[in-house]
Amino acid sequence: MCGIIGCTGRAEDTLDVLLSGLEGLEYRGYDSAGVALANGSLEICKRQGELDRLQQAVGNSLRGPVGIGHTRWSTHGPPTDANAHPHTDCTGNVAVVHNGIIENYDELKAELHARGHEFESDTDTEVVPHLIEAALAEGASFEAAFREAVSRLEGSYALAAVTADTEAILATRHDSPLVLGVGDDAAYLASDVPAFLEYTDRVVYLEDDDFARLESGAWTVTDADGQLLDKSVSRVEWDAEETAKSGYDHYMLKEIHEQPRALRKCLRGRVDELTGSIQVDSLEGLSPSSVQFVACGTSYHAALYGAQTLRDAGIPAQAFLASEYATAPAPVGDDALVVGVTQSGETADTLSALREAQRRGVETLAMTNVVGSTATRECDRTLLIRAGPEIGVAATKTFSSQVVACNLLAATIADRGDSREIVEALRDLPGQVQELLDASRAESVAKRFVDSEGYFFIGRGHHHPVALEGALKMKEITYKHAEGFPAGELKHGPLALVTDQTPVFAVVTGDGEEATKTVGNVKEVEARDAPVVAVTDGASDASRYAEAVLEIPETHPQVAPVLANVQLQLVAYHVANELGRSIDKPRNLAKSVTVE
Ligand code: AGP
Ligand code: GLU
Repeated sequence: MCGIIGCTGRAEDTLDVLLSGLEGLEYRGYDSAGVALANGSLEICKRQGELDRLQQAVGNSLRGPVGIGHTRWSTHGPPTDANAHPHTDCTGNVAVVHNGIIENYDELKAELHARGHEFESDTDTEVVPHLIEAALAEGASFEAAFREAVSRLEGSYALAAVTADTEAILATRHDSPLVLGVGDDAAYLASDVPAFLEYTDRVVYLEDDDFARLESGAWTVTDADGQLLDKSVSRVEWDAEETAKSGYDHYMLKEIHEQPRALRKCLRGRVDELTGSIQVDSLEGLSPSSVQFVACGTSYHAALYGAQTLRDAGIPAQAFLASEYATAPAPVGDDALVVGVTQSGETADTLSALREAQRRGVETLAMTNVVGSTATRECDRTLLIRAGPEIGVAATKTFSSQVVACNLLAATIADRGDSREIVEALRDLPGQVQELLDASRAESVAKRFVDSEGYFFIGRGHHHPVALEGALKMKEITYKHAEGFPAGELKHGPLALVTDQTPVFAVVTGDGEEATKTVGNVKEVEARDAPVVAVTDGASDASRYAEAVLEIPETHPQVAPVLANVQLQLVAYHVANELGRSIDKPRNLAKSVTVE
């Protein structure tokens, strides 16, 4: 998820190249960092925290012609010095850096343990150097051992490995990015081009399951069977600042586009398509009598969605704004659960609500994106949403992943008999988000309504949180007035504000009773000359009353909110872009709000 850098052939300044490469990867977000240099023996330095901690610790002391470095965004084990990468084998002769998740690490670790290997970290990654060590011990070459180790892995990985006495870096990728940089006398390897752009603009993009070997400035790429691949070298046209956003103008847009991948990660290993069942290890044995969600901002909207989804599944559930939780009634029943929905895991209001729940003797669950965050440390259980680092202050992909995680929670603790339909809808969701991103007309809608006085968002049932979230995104990054309402509530007051200068975004999917009622509300605003933008799958006749339509693919009603919300994210983004706002760092806002 975070960053890898490697280089060979620089002789004197390998360490500088690694450290400046790690700086170039900082934007991806990380919680610890480390480097390993090989010069007959391996010299390793790693630190939890910001890069300057590593820089201070390492000084100028490490030398060697070959090196790898890493910024870690923890998935397995908290951010500590010991869990930081590179990881080594028992002999200290092999060092490995890894981005991603090794899903079968438990069974590999047990196997290696039984064969006498000792582990020093909580990470999934550490199995890799030990697998290499085991193959080397049986007489394999470094390259054969690396391939043998990789063949045992399931999950997602970008990997780079070095040994003490070989001047080569071996690397491969599967569902995690890795790119080679081709210098005159040196070769580089990184998760993203900015890591080495100051040294070369010639790059070779690796595909899944390619194997790369970098040695004294030379490089080769082979396939999984060892056949040499004819890779072309491209020249990068971007400057370092642009590539940090992988070619996107803003992190927010990049993160919106990362959603298909983020959702796949959230689902991976948790959904069994064959049986139509959903299983999340960290939720095993959980069977609450009632559930309270606590959260703030965007996460609160996901919480509203979660509470409704649980109620639909027959479990009493409510969502509370975390900052108001102190006065909330105690949850019903002896086996209640309080779920803190928090991307960062560090939001002070949410932490304090979770602590209040603990004082009340209630079991707590952190639904979060950040391993090792305070919420994960303090709660009884953790459900990771696995969205990957989110840099833009406006939460986008984490909301979608939270909504999917709420589905995982609902399916795990309440079986209402339609899990196969949900599983199928969730399976198709990442592809549908991609389809929507490829075809969205949100930019032209944004351009058309950029000068409007304000914006309203309406939705009913599961789409109510989407209406609220659409409005929050709009205010946060455009600084324009926007409000979201349950569709039926508009006529009880806010309708007085509706004019031909206030577009109303109406989220309507399906053709059931809810949709029919929302279409009725659409007619009410249309009759008052407000331009309507229908966000719809086309099943109802909402589009007939709309000046513009943002289409979403058809899916299960419980899953449709994710798709509708992606359209609204894009609208907010493009309005803010037209207005020249500071999209990634809106005024007055911070990514993680650590004060109450
Ligand atoms: C959303 O765009 C905002 N950044 C904000 O509302 C955020 O969702 C809220 O502060 C909660 O943060 P958390 O998910 O990290 O707890
Ligand atoms: N899963 C690994 C860990 O937790 C790698 C995380 C990353 O991609 O940085 O250490």
